[in-house]
Amino acid sequence: MTTSTSGTDETAVASYAPSAEFSAQANAGAELYAAAEEDRLGFWAEQARRLHWHTPFTEVLDWSDAPVAKWFADGELNVAYNCVDRHVIDGHGDQVAIHWEGEPGDSRDVTYADLLADVSQAANTLTELGLVSGDRVAIYMPMIPEAIVSMLACARLGLTHSVVFAGFSATALRSRIDDAEAKLVITTDGQWRRGKPAPIKDTVDEAVDGAASIQNVLVVKRTDSDVAWTDGRDLWWHETVAKASKEHEAQPFPAEHPLFILYTSGTTGKPKGIIHTSGGYLTQTSYTHHNVFDHKAGKDVYWCTADIGWVTGHSYIVYGPLSNRATQVVYEGTPNSPDEHRHWNVIEKYKVSIYYTSPTLVRTFMKWGKEIPEAHDLTSIRLLGSVGEPINPEAWRWFRDVVGGGTAPIVDTWWQTETGAIMISPLPGVTATKPGSAMAPLPGISAKIVDDDAKPLGNGGNGYLVLDEPWPSMLRGIWGDMDRYKDTYWSRYAEEGWYFAGDGAKYDDDGALWVLGRVDDVMNVSGHRISTSEVESALVTHHSVAEAAVVGAADDTTGQGIVAFVILRAGEENTGDALIAELKAQVSKEISPIARPREISIVPELPKTRSGKIMRRLLRDVAEGRELGDVSTLVDPKVFEAIKKGR
Ligand code: WT7
Repeated sequence: MTTSTSGTDETAVASYAPSAEFSAQANAGAELYAAAEEDRLGFWAEQARRLHWHTPFTEVLDWSDAPVAKWFADGELNVAYNCVDRHVIDGHGDQVAIHWEGEPGDSRDVTYADLLADVSQAANTLTELGLVSGDRVAIYMPMIPEAIVSMLACARLGLTHSVVFAGFSATALRSRIDDAEAKLVITTDGQWRRGKPAPIKDTVDEAVDGAASIQNVLVVKRTDSDVAWTDGRDLWWHETVAKASKEHEAQPFPAEHPLFILYTSGTTGKPKGIIHTSGGYLTQTSYTHHNVFDHKAGKDVYWCTADIGWVTGHSYIVYGPLSNRATQVVYEGTPNSPDEHRHWNVIEKYKVSIYYTSPTLVRTFMKWGKEIPEAHDLTSIRLLGSVGEPINPEAWRWFRDVVGGGTAPIVDTWWQTETGAIMISPLPGVTATKPGSAMAPLPGISAKIVDDDAKPLGNGGNGYLVLDEPWPSMLRGIWGDMDRYKDTYWSRYAEEGWYFAGDGAKYDDDGALWVLGRVDDVMNVSGHRISTSEVESALVTHHSVAEAAVVGAADDTTGQGIVAFVILRAGEENTGDALIAELKAQVSKEISPIARPREISIVPELPKTRSGKIMRRLLRDVAEGRELGDVSTLVDPKVFEAIKKGR
């Protein structure tokens, strides 16, 4: 329903008011904003009581050691107990927790009672392996139930998990294992990708070779592939976990006990291990999953298409949904295996009612054609969500019309690995939405758009997004580098004590908030965060490369694509396509295929300022085929003629 149009710029568009029907049944109401406004900490205390506390908290927020927050610090809870045991105790053991779809077509339903047995067995095995609260465990697995069981078993024992996306290279996995000094890696023999088994254990073997901290590698059999075996170190899941006792009593841990580390890209080459703790994190993931997705336990079938290797998988496949007793779909494979109908078949099969995905995937579906979803009964869908990058209005409208039957509300959710949970989003049934806008901070969250001088901007203002009050699921630091934590997020607006998100944003004339994308050297490719310097470092590990500069250039499908400019070492021959293919492979090997440049140009020089800084802005102009911006600060403006010739 179109309720208003105003202004002339592209963001002054029609808004969609919630339908009376949706509002009448919605979990959230306008009173949430009022309650949070009136007493923010009281509001969060109430949200925290959604959880089971072994020891109730008396304190809400301790900000005396800012920017390291303590939330609910004197309370004790067990995160896994909250996600599993209490639902079984409440009589919902037979409810399906996970409808799992394997890529080759196998499937499995896991009830909450099954999940409790599985998590208990895994916890018993991890204990037998000598792991104790505070130890770190790396998880490098495809999307199978055992991955979720592994995370919950860690949570149950107070072990801090570090999930590494199974698309990352051995080099990337090793650096994460070393940084966290993980004692155990949980993995699989292989994974299914487009109908074929692909190796995983091999990559782990390469990664852990000589890794000082690693004691064991626990392996789930998934593809039944031949794998190398190191006796004494390697253990099969089906010979250990599957034979362990199904009884395990969860112990409480303090609210600030570290739950996980998740590595994400920053502006320098070395990924940051973002630390999240227990009570505040679970409070906010649970609260947002309930209200933003309007989730009804026992009725909805929820599907978040992310991978557990990213924060979206942690917060909106594992902790948020399971704490709310969701029944959810977990799908192992790619959206076009065996064909482009896969997601719609899955939605039809399980009658998915809430579908949360990325703008990149929506744009991919658009490219495949609307006939594909239109060949299916998608009437079970009642709410759609988007995350990871700005969603362009055209994709937003297509999503609502073609997938959402023209009626489903869309929640465009802005957040980050660092924020732990959704921060800015419409509330379905409450907020009128505009295609492409994340609209407003959620109740309990405070955000501002400010200029360089920390002046808060009003309607029509365009500047930097900051979070000016602490929130329960905020990161508590960077593993092993608290100085970097302070420097990265808190030094930009140190005087004001604001968290600098690294995103540009604006308010339109109606006060709706639009997130415009990163303002630092971080790229966003298909919703994956990749730093320019990480890719540059990978390129210069190739013996032919002297120097590299990388930029993110606009891409119709993936949001941004990676474009690299490299200078060869003296005496190295430019073999053209052959060398470019080698360089692309080098990046896949050093980081992951997701960081592979879309384009590489071999150029004689890079544009630099007099102080020696590479002018990425100008390279972006070249990559996007634009007229060059201001070149007056360049040492030698003529380099561009040579650069253009190199392309
Ligand atoms: C960056 C965080 C949040 C989980 C997935 C990504 C961008 C995220 C949106 C959105 C516009 C968005 C931002 C942010 N981003 N959601 N709804 N609209 N931009 O987590 O890898 O930590 O990346 O993703 O640039 O800073 P992440």
